[in-house]
Amino acid sequence: MSDTLKPTSFGLEKIFEGAQDFLPIMGTDYVEFYVGNAKQAAHYYKTAFGFQSEAYAGLETGLRDRTSYVVKQDKIRIVLTTALNSNSPIGEHVKKHGDGVKVIALWVEDARYSYEETIKRGAKSFMEPVVEKDDNGEVVRSGIYAYGETVFIFVERKNYNGIFLPGYKKWTSDYNPTSVGLKYVDHMVGNVGWNQMNTWVKWFEDVMGFVNFLSFDDKQITTEYSALMSKVMANGNGRIKFPINEPAEGKKKSQIEEYLDFYEGEGVQHIAVATDDIIKTVTEMRARGVEFLSAPPQAYYDMAPDRLAKFNHKLQEDVKRLQSLGIMIDADDEGYLLQIFTKPVEDRPTLFYEIIQRMGARGFGAGNFKALFESIEREQELRGTL
Ligand code: FE2
Repeated sequence: MSDTLKPTSFGLEKIFEGAQDFLPIMGTDYVEFYVGNAKQAAHYYKTAFGFQSEAYAGLETGLRDRTSYVVKQDKIRIVLTTALNSNSPIGEHVKKHGDGVKVIALWVEDARYSYEETIKRGAKSFMEPVVEKDDNGEVVRSGIYAYGETVFIFVERKNYNGIFLPGYKKWTSDYNPTSVGLKYVDHMVGNVGWNQMNTWVKWFEDVMGFVNFLSFDDKQITTEYSALMSKVMANGNGRIKFPINEPAEGKKKSQIEEYLDFYEGEGVQHIAVATDDIIKTVTEMRARGVEFLSAPPQAYYDMAPDRLAKFNHKLQEDVKRLQSLGIMIDADDEGYLLQIFTKPVEDRPTLFYEIIQRMGARGFGAGNFKALFESIEREQELRGTL
């Protein structure tokens, strides 16, 4: 039972009854940020988050309007893109939203079919299927709009052997900080506007064939001051999970509302990345300057072993180490999970990261919501946005 729990992924088999098979997704292909300065952002992800230089496109590869740096860590690929002139939709995006996620790219078998099927089901087109070629083969990509100005791009790369996409060259650097042990994207959360939750749940069901497999209402996610609602959407094989948050009325301003104000619209709130050794990963990230939310109070850690015992699990990590790093613990019937959240990684209080280690559990840390949101509220208080 509990002594045999090992780091686990969320699920690679078909686990969600009701999800439709018309859109098989094999994984997250890449996440593209539009940023003010891609060169410096890439340096940050290498230095602080342990990503490696992977690919580059810009003036030297024949582009005139933008530069993109691709950094990689195990299965996680992040693309950082900046406009090279003032007359650019990339620049407009940054002007409005600040640095943020523009593209969630999904790895599919057939990008044309994915496009046709989702459009047929009501998606708004971002990019008709395009075939890009170079000496290493071809990639087909297509795209649809999701919440806000965020887009999903379908990537078909079965006939491609190059480093990333046609047009990119390998990026070799003399500066190569080591990995911190981040492995893959576990889930990506979107914040949507007031009364928009059910619209987007229906959109994921109708357009993407996803299922809503977990819901939390504002009674479950509430502190003394603020509240929010959350629903988790997943595809059929469980590899892709998109929780959606909507603000709810509370005594003070919800963190979701703060996000919507500063992002000036709906968008990606956090990216959860998995590790097999969260103690090592977070120790390393802290040493490299990543700022995390403050730890829950002593009482939280005093109660942690009992909370696990209730589910017949035994914590394999030293609770004192977890506490000293601010890592939180949650459990369900299947196992437990360890998680921690960074502070926002840009000046606007918008996108942040979650580091997660699953030890059998398939939840999202519902048992930690209160402690987490109280920690976020302490930050909001400092920002004058609570
Ligand atoms: Fe999360």
